Amino acid sequence: MQYSQKVLDHFMHPHNVGKMENPDAVATEGSPACGDQVTVFLKINENSHVIEDVRFLSYGCASNIATASIVTDLAKGKSLEEAKKISWRDAMEALDGLPPVKVHCSVLAADTLQTAISNYEISHGLKEVPNFSKATIEEELKKIIYPKVGEDIISLKMVKYIGFTDGEVLIDLNMMSFDQYRDNVAEEIREHLEKYPEVKEIKINFP
Ligand code: FES
Repeated sequence: MQYSQKVLDHFMHPHNVGKMENPDAVATEGSPACGDQVTVFLKINENSHVIEDVRFLSYGCASNIATASIVTDLAKGKSLEEAKKISWRDAMEALDGLPPVKVHCSVLAADTLQTAISNYEISHGLKEVPNFSKATIEEELKKIIYPKVGEDIISLKMVKYIGFTDGEVLIDLNMMSFDQYRDNVAEEIREHLEKYPEVKEIKINFP
């Protein structure tokens, strides 16, 4: 697999590694695609809301370590508002790209940072726990990468319809039966949505 020099540097000499004692916020996320995990710890200035320190622990592949290293670099010294804009695309760019099958690793790193920020905001009354809605489903689907090209299924317009009524999620996917990634994508959708207590059933339809 072809990795950029930056990916290799961050993998072999990762920044901000380690457990943080008494963090102000923490989040652990796993990737349904591969089972890898990342934990992000934040130290946040209570008055300025600047991220003064950030650390991570990785239980995953080389790209998992490299993307967590770069995401934590990007977040350090930023205000919460600035850090909320850090996306997996920023991480990819800062690493000079990733192979398509490894793009989900950057999604995992960026996502874990965002969850840690969100946990801080919720626990400090800076935001309400958002209601589960179609928008939540769409946000989750934006984290699912089509491994063949390394783009998310929303950007690729593979999602034709999203419905949510009485706990039932309905998704129409524009993926043909001969597509080798169809089952993987469907499985990932289920794993991303099953964690919400509001979701009782998930139906995924194909053409
Ligand atoms: Fe899954 Fe890298 S995080 S293979």
